[in-house]
Amino acid sequence: MAMTADGKIATANRAVSSFGSARDHKHLLELRATADAVMCGARTADLNDINMGPGPAKFRRLRLKRGLAEYNLRVIASGSGSINPRAKVFKHRFSPIIILTTQRMTASSRRRLRALGLEIKVCGKTEINFRKTLRWLRHKWGVKRLLCEGGGELNDALFRADLVDELHLTVCPKIFGGRTAPTIADGLGFSKLTAATQLKLKSSRRIGDEMFLVFNCR
Ligand SMILES: NC(=O)c1ccc[n+]([C@@H]2O[C@H](COP(=O)([O-])OP(=O)(O)OC[C@H]3O[C@@H](n4cnc5c(N)ncnc54)[C@H](OP(=O)(O)O)[C@@H]3O)[C@@H](O)[C@H]2O)c1
Repeated sequence: MAMTADGKIATANRAVSSFGSARDHKHLLELRATADAVMCGARTADLNDINMGPGPAKFRRLRLKRGLAEYNLRVIASGSGSINPRAKVFKHRFSPIIILTTQRMTASSRRRLRALGLEIKVCGKTEINFRKTLRWLRHKWGVKRLLCEGGGELNDALFRADLVDELHLTVCPKIFGGRTAPTIADGLGFSKLTAATQLKLKSSRRIGDEMFLVFNCR
């Protein structure tokens, strides 16, 4: 996640969410080159012009050298099925896209998304059961390493389910402010200090005015 110095991952109006340097973007592609699948939430997928793919040929070669598929699998969480079928991500056909949803998804949304060739996986009645879903991704799609790229709501669900091993955080030299601007973990959050995700700093590196932090989650 790229985060401003005041802890935001986008502006309150969601107009700006890409604000890291070219080095930060390279870091993202380097991480994708280690993962079987890349996952994000519905708003990250449909508010932005993203493809969730491995990027240029050198990263695809790296993936093959590591024994990974040339193109990573793509996974989008959309519990109510609100994801916009016209999102740019669906125009890129290089690898399968799986929509994780719940029984709240309407039949018409399901039809529209199926027509795009997407796999729809119902992962719970009203909430996605991520523990079960990650097991399914491993067995059905061979996903051993999953890179979650936000946003804040999806991240929060994964933290609460205690499913995050490592957090890569780039602190960028900006302040966005805004009470409703998203942060790296929104959603419901924890209500007790003892329940909070505990992090252990694994590495820190300053490049220019950005800090590249890697935490292990315990
Ligand atoms: N700076 C960065 O590194 C960075 C990275 C990623 C995103 N962003 C920005 O962050 C903003 C999006 O963040 P966000 O928190 O608003 O949205 P988000 O997490 O990307 O997406 C929220 C939507 O995803 C689905 N979802 C998320 N968690 C779920 C769960 N546990 N169960 C079921 N469905 C779930 C829901 O879809 P339904 O409504 O269909 O139920 C929910 O409305 C955007 O502006 C994006 O550009 C910034």
